Amino acid sequence: MTIAVARDVDQAPATPLIEVRGLVKHFYAPGGRIVHAVEDVDLTIGRGRIVGLVGESGSGKTTVGRTLLRLIEPTGGRMSFDGTDVFALSAREMRQWRRRMQIIFQDPFSSLNPRLTIRAIIAEALDTRGYAKGRARLDRTVELLELVGLSADHASRYPHEFSGGQRQRIGIARALAVEPDFIVADEPVSALDVSIQAQVLNLMEDLRRRLGLTMLFISHDLSVIAYACDEIVVMYLGRVMERGSSRDVRIAPLHPYSQALIAAAPVPDPSRRRVHVPLGGDIPSPIAPPSGCVFRTRCPKALPACAETVPPLTDVGQGRFVACLRVGAGGVSL
Ligand SMILES: Nc1ncnc2c1ncn2[C@@H]1O[C@H](COP(=O)(O)OP(=O)(O)OP(=O)(O)O)[C@@H](O)[C@H]1O
Ligand SMILES: [Mg+2]
Repeated sequence: MTIAVARDVDQAPATPLIEVRGLVKHFYAPGGRIVHAVEDVDLTIGRGRIVGLVGESGSGKTTVGRTLLRLIEPTGGRMSFDGTDVFALSAREMRQWRRRMQIIFQDPFSSLNPRLTIRAIIAEALDTRGYAKGRARLDRTVELLELVGLSADHASRYPHEFSGGQRQRIGIARALAVEPDFIVADEPVSALDVSIQAQVLNLMEDLRRRLGLTMLFISHDLSVIAYACDEIVVMYLGRVMERGSSRDVRIAPLHPYSQALIAAAPVPDPSRRRVHVPLGGDIPSPIAPPSGCVFRTRCPKALPACAETVPPLTDVGQGRFVACLRVGAGGVSL
């Protein structure tokens, strides 16, 4: 999609709500081979901020999102949520915590029960919050529908009676019903027509401002991420390649992989220097990731040394972090 970048980032520092350190998730393929889906990922998300996770298909974005909510169990690492070590919680404790963390899915249709009216779908979510039945619950349902731009009239309809954009609004209302602090939105607009995408993104931005939501926003589409997020984290084959403010990463990407992504999906921005980086081939298998820098086999700037060690995600100054031997202090190309 091509939509103008509507706003610039509020640069004031925010206290972290989420701090993830050394997140690892391995799956097991037939024959006991390890799938390195996520390796050593660090993430910090400030209160009320939206951090975007971008990367090609298979880079590990969904796995990060699901692991943070413990919808799948992490293999390693730590996650602090509002000061609590979430990965150390028992299953019982986790049930309480889960209310504070919700997920919005890519495909709103398959995530809504077709046999339930919208009222029943939202009531189900309100039940976990312990809302009284009757009037209070009905009032809250209408309030939630109005919050996402729908109306009381919609409550008695079924999911198939809505458009894709409206269904995603229902998915958002359902996630908000339990008053979460943190939302993982996994490709929330990827299944929608381009004309509807901006409306749903604007709704999410409006809700963030009104409710102070903190969000991890996952998309393979850099223009969507640039539009929706304060900060961008670029992933490749399970690892973070670069992170920085949305503006910095889109105007002057430092990692060769971010440069390739931006060159492939230009974001309309007259102040941006154009970068042309060819990126051939496919993402390698996470069962046998390249040694050293995982991007080196497709990197136009790779050196022999890139095969030797995994480059750490390094602070290069001004709030920017890059995992590349070729990028030095101040973002200078070496
Ligand atoms: N349950 C699983 N068992 C084995 N491998 C898995 C499992 N789930 C994910 N993977 C693998 O982990 C890697 C990362 O997958 P993930 O779905 O997180 O990527 P993604 O960045 O979300 O991709 P997409 O943009 O296609 O949604 C992929 O190679 C995938 O095949
Ligand atoms: Mg995914």
